[in-house]
Amino acid sequence: MSQMSVAAAPTAERTQHPRRYLMCRPDHFTVSYSINPWMEPANPTDTALAVQQWQRLHDTYLELGHEVELIDPVAGLPDMVYTANGGFAIDGRFYAPRFRFEERKGEEPAFIDWARGHGFEVVLPQFTNEGEGDFLLAGDVILAGRGFRSSDDSHREVARVFDREVVSLTLVDPRFYHLDTALSVLDPVVAEGQTPTVAYLPDAFDEASRAELERRFPDAIRVADADGAVFGLNSASDGKNVFISPRATGFEAQLRERGYNPVLIDLSELLLGGGGIKCCTLELRGGAR
Ligand code: ARG
Repeated sequence: MSQMSVAAAPTAERTQHPRRYLMCRPDHFTVSYSINPWMEPANPTDTALAVQQWQRLHDTYLELGHEVELIDPVAGLPDMVYTANGGFAIDGRFYAPRFRFEERKGEEPAFIDWARGHGFEVVLPQFTNEGEGDFLLAGDVILAGRGFRSSDDSHREVARVFDREVVSLTLVDPRFYHLDTALSVLDPVVAEGQTPTVAYLPDAFDEASRAELERRFPDAIRVADADGAVFGLNSASDGKNVFISPRATGFEAQLRERGYNPVLIDLSELLLGGGGIKCCTLELRGGAR
């Protein structure tokens, strides 16, 4: 092999990969129960503002060339706006959710019906799992969160369903109860065998998981606590544009340094339910149009 150049690499030129997302208008959004530390039923919520902020995220996806599918919101299911928990889809196969808390179980049939109606082969789970909130596709492997919501058994189940390696990561901070609140995959598409860039909040994981992340993703972006605490990691990325909270200013700068284009979207009202940009975005891989 010829000698490799060791000169400082210029900032990588990032490539956008158009995505297809499932979203749910927060017409019935409110905080009427508490299943995570962000939710305070005593604090008032402004549903109209939630819809307005959500609409901006939706419209920005479309303006940047993404496709957005919509699932009808159901009265009495205020958390349905967080569609990331509604399933996990790869290659037209849709692993359905089984929510940890009673309050969200009513969402299960809605997401299952939606997926069936859109050409997915739906696999019904035996074990508690909260969809893409805890399962993130990173190149060939599935990163899987545990500790608060999705069960260890669901990690084994998802490995079988998609016939892929699953890397279990243990979350330890109750504010970051889903994997997608603590880790973001910045390259949704990579060449076979390549590793995507990820960003994560080290303190959200136990020591063994941190070591595993360091080993697998040596050049990951490690995000500061201040950015994690405003849900900066709860972001979506198309490989170039990274949709993040405007409050995550440190992460924004880190992304620019790496050649990504941060797109700032404020979902402050939806944060009252403990969710942000990624929570409102389920990636659809396969299925019918
Ligand atoms: N209130 C919802 C819950 O606690 C928020 C879900 C956020 N979703 C996510 N993908 N992190 O279940």
